[in-house]
Amino acid sequence: MKFKKSFACGCIAAFLVLVAAFMVGAADQAATKAADVITIKAGLWTSHTKAPVEFTHKKHVEEHKIACTDCHHKFENGKNVWKEGDPVQKCEACHNEPTIQGEKKLPPEQQKLNLKLAFHENCVGCHQKLKKDKPDTKAPVTCTGCHPAQK
Ligand code: HEC
Ligand code: HEC
Ligand code: HEC
Ligand code: HEC
Repeated sequence: MKFKKSFACGCIAAFLVLVAAFMVGAADQAATKAADVITIKAGLWTSHTKAPVEFTHKKHVEEHKIACTDCHHKFENGKNVWKEGDPVQKCEACHNEPTIQGEKKLPPEQQKLNLKLAFHENCVGCHQKLKKDKPDTKAPVTCTGCHPAQK
């Protein structure tokens, strides 16, 4: 009897350890892995005026050879201290200023945290620079190139 009981306890303990290990693994994966293609539709905006944007995350890294740190950052004393392998927060976790009209008229400190400007400066900013050197680039710079026309 005594032997059976401690054996059962051992099994339950081992099972709990396994569950815990699995949960830690799953949490890690969610924070440090991205889908190959991300449909960007930020929750900060409860109503969207434009269609969500299909972003080819994997292609930007592997084919277009863009560094993670061109898009991901965590500033400490004015320096980007984020490095590959660190967990990634959504842009809107920090850029939580929601204005989508007249956002360029906001005070500079608010502009820095504006979400629309964060996406457009990052995505459109890079694509426009590319277009200067290579006018036939496939990187979209027109509204419908990123936001397909709504049906
Ligand atoms: C060209 C820009 C760009 C590059 C390069 C890039 N990312 Fe991303 N990444 C994004 C954007 C945009 C998102 C979606 C953020 C959001 O929805 O707010 C994202 C999402 C992620 C997520 C998922 C976060 C989540 O909430 O699910 C991870 C993890 C990630 N990236 C890691 C990386 C790593 C590692 C690299 C380099 C190997 C990299 N990224 C390169 C722009 C980029
Ligand atoms: C951990 C918080 C945080 C996250 C997450 C974050 N940002 Fe930022 N970002 C900042 C801060 C703070 C600044 C202002 C830095 C300064 O004072 O110049 C900034 C500045 C910027 C700038 C303007 C300056 C520059 O480096 O060109 C752009 C564009 C930008 N972020 C885009 C993004 C995008 C796109 C994402 C998601 C892929 C993102 N940010 C995620 C905090 C964050
Ligand atoms: C630092 C530069 C850079 C940044 C930042 C960047 N891109 Fe790109 N993007 C590229 C390059 C390079 C290409 C490929 C151009 C070509 O093939 O001629 C590209 C291509 C694309 C394409 C066409 C499909 C493909 O992958 O070939 C889409 C859509 C796109 N980008 C969306 C985005 C979005 C949305 C963001 C912001 C979340 C973004 N890009 C940020 C450099 C960038
Ligand atoms: C290179 C890609 C790219 C281009 C080009 C682009 N945008 Fe965006 N834009 C984005 C991304 C990414 C977001 C964030 C999408 C989201 O969360 O819904 C965004 C968000 C927005 C938003 C706020 C969210 C909403 O649905 O109301 C507006 C408004 C907007 N864009 C308008 C425009 C207009 C107008 C143009 C043309 C002048 C344009 N964009 C060109 C990538 C782009």
